[in-house]
Amino acid sequence: MLLSELPTPAIVIEKSRLEANLQTMQELANAQGVALRPHTKTHKSVFIASRQRDLGAKGLTVAKLGEAETFAGAGFTDIRLAYALYGTDKYARLAGLLSSCRVSFCVDTSEGASAASAFFAAQGLTVDVMIETDIGYHRCGVRWDRSESAAFALWVDSLPGLRVCGILTHAGHSYYGPQSEGESLADSLRRVSNQERDRMLEFAVSLRQAGVKAAVSGDLEISVGSTPSIRYFTNRDHEGFKITEIRPGNYVFHDMTQVNLGVRGMESCALTVHATVFSKHKNEDGSERLFIDSGKKVLTSDGAFRAEGYGQILYDAGNMVPMPHAVINALSEEHGWVLVRGGSTLNVGDRVRVVPNHSCVVVNTQPHMFIVDGEDVIQSIPVDSQCKVV
Ligand SMILES: Cc1ncc(COP(=O)(O)O)c(C=O)c1O
Repeated sequence: MLLSELPTPAIVIEKSRLEANLQTMQELANAQGVALRPHTKTHKSVFIASRQRDLGAKGLTVAKLGEAETFAGAGFTDIRLAYALYGTDKYARLAGLLSSCRVSFCVDTSEGASAASAFFAAQGLTVDVMIETDIGYHRCGVRWDRSESAAFALWVDSLPGLRVCGILTHAGHSYYGPQSEGESLADSLRRVSNQERDRMLEFAVSLRQAGVKAAVSGDLEISVGSTPSIRYFTNRDHEGFKITEIRPGNYVFHDMTQVNLGVRGMESCALTVHATVFSKHKNEDGSERLFIDSGKKVLTSDGAFRAEGYGQILYDAGNMVPMPHAVINALSEEHGWVLVRGGSTLNVGDRVRVVPNHSCVVVNTQPHMFIVDGEDVIQSIPVDSQCKVV
């Protein structure tokens, strides 16, 4: 099938760009001596996860238990739930996976740890947990620099049914960009990357001092990662500890957020939304209003760092050249509003490709993605963990 025959809207993945992204990240992990445990929240696809495993990924990361069930069901045997799992319904489902898969999850509160310990101990199970650590994003996690955090880890390690196997952080503030006058995009990524690494290594030392078994034996897993903070990641030894794994997710596709942050260029954006212009009108000032068949339900209303609008329309999709003067400046549920200053050559019936602001959430809107090689649609792949939010 040709791309021009594909019903729109459709999520299109350019095979060569996907492959280049997968290989580049695996090479970075190999060069820095860390395991790559990619976060599947971006692609939600067994097909792509299998390719990551073939290239050398060690295990997978998920956010939700339903995602863990999807990938465990597809034969993956080492899954990290990078989420502070809470609730006996969830623990029971996790226990059901343990016969075929190592599943670890995060704890960051005494309530969560106590509840998990009570459940798993009653089942006669011991489950690996990661201490979720806040190194600056302030989403979840215990503070890396507080003595009570190391004491918390030691206490969790003493609970029946749980074993502290590592520490985990997500430097989501890598998405904030430069924070001071004169700081470049690259400098801001390096700053967060180094901070993420150094604070986690410090925290590992404090766990060893506190007597957490995995830290004392040198087996502590130290897990970091976001696509921006991994861009300039370099590993280092600090008092016998090194980062052991990275968990980027978005890198498989990238998007306008990553481009605007300077993580990668347009040529690394593997995912586009293929859409059709279905209406066109003139504005009083001579500009044009085009409507594409991808609104909020496909592009989603996520903005992007320094982005004008809700995704970048391409003029030349083969070379990833943006269309000048065309801005998706508003979205209805089923309409993408495109403002074209000075008028455009696009007409009703024309097809466009859009690089979305945030590829991960776009993938979650569709049951399938289409892998293409230029104008040829090679195959349709399911979004296996679509909407697995429970
Ligand atoms: C806990 C955790 N780990 C890893 C990632 C991957 O980050 P990115 O999508 O920037 O690669 C995320 C993303 O939200 C996350 O929440």
